[in-house]
Amino acid sequence: MPSNSPYCPIPSRISLNAHLYRAETSDDLRHLINDVARAAKYIQFAIRTTEAGLAGTKNQFGEDQVKLDVLSDEIIRQHLCESQLVASFSSEEMEDVIELDPKAPYSVVYDPLDGSSLVDANFAIGSIFGFYEGKEIIGRRPREQVAALYVLYGPRTLLVYSVGKGVHEFILNDVGEFILLRENLGVADKAKTFSPGNIGAVTDTAPYRNMLNLWLDEKMKLRYSGAMVADIHHVISKGQGIFTNVGGAKYPEGKLRLVFECGPFAYLMEQAGGAASDGKNSILDVAIRDTDQRTPIIIGSKEEVKRVCDILSGKTR
Ligand code: AHG
Ligand code: MN
Ligand code: MN
Repeated sequence: MPSNSPYCPIPSRISLNAHLYRAETSDDLRHLINDVARAAKYIQFAIRTTEAGLAGTKNQFGEDQVKLDVLSDEIIRQHLCESQLVASFSSEEMEDVIELDPKAPYSVVYDPLDGSSLVDANFAIGSIFGFYEGKEIIGRRPREQVAALYVLYGPRTLLVYSVGKGVHEFILNDVGEFILLRENLGVADKAKTFSPGNIGAVTDTAPYRNMLNLWLDEKMKLRYSGAMVADIHHVISKGQGIFTNVGGAKYPEGKLRLVFECGPFAYLMEQAGGAASDGKNSILDVAIRDTDQRTPIIIGSKEEVKRVCDILSGKTR
């Protein structure tokens, strides 16, 4: 633990644990985030060593699970159970909210492996987590999260977290510790890059086509990988940009899930000075009716989020 004793050398690097401690995070939340970060190290190892194939099972959304989806979910569950700090949890890979200990302080929602179908292509993928106080998840709003974080498994393994005091980025070093890279990441109001998800929707959703044409006409740069962790991290890392996944005939509410994907990213993006909308309201204010709820998402630089919402609603062209 950081101490003022003259016997404690001044550290040459700041660990995730020390950073959480300095941010005056409660001990319970600090321990829980450390436990989740530890789970991510095992997932990072599993990605490098596990076969990329299908598990032969489907998740609650009817999507084929790859072996790594199942394994990552198991690794996280194991760490949440061991922490003794989790009242309940809900995973993209499990149908129900699971109660562990109603007296424990936190509920955790997570997407164990986002972009898992990209593993064989060796694209960057990630894990996403949101943390609530208490044991209820249904009936809450993402604004009630007390922390959110994601881990990006790319050429480097990065962890980006917020406990409501800015957004901070850590890198996994060779001895397996997350070390501070950049503090207080910020997202500017104007976007220069665009990341259009569920692009198939342009065939039946004229305003989305208009939006896409505008981005092309304005010579904005395309940055889309197919894993929202990597695509939204691009926005947070470069300090500008827009990511969308909006509705169309195939996915009327877009493809992404409110609880496991959009909620945690909305929390992080607002902490970084950006915005996240479902087209009308902040994602942070959308009530959670069910864990399988999908929502359109327009997230990133504030002015661009507003412009996209105006165009999609037909307010402007
Ligand atoms: P998951 O792997 O957890 O199912 O999520 C994949 C999601 C998200 O990461 C990404 O933005 C979106 O699916 C990509 O959809 P398309 O392949 O249709 O672009
Ligand atoms: Mn996902
Ligand atoms: Mn997933």
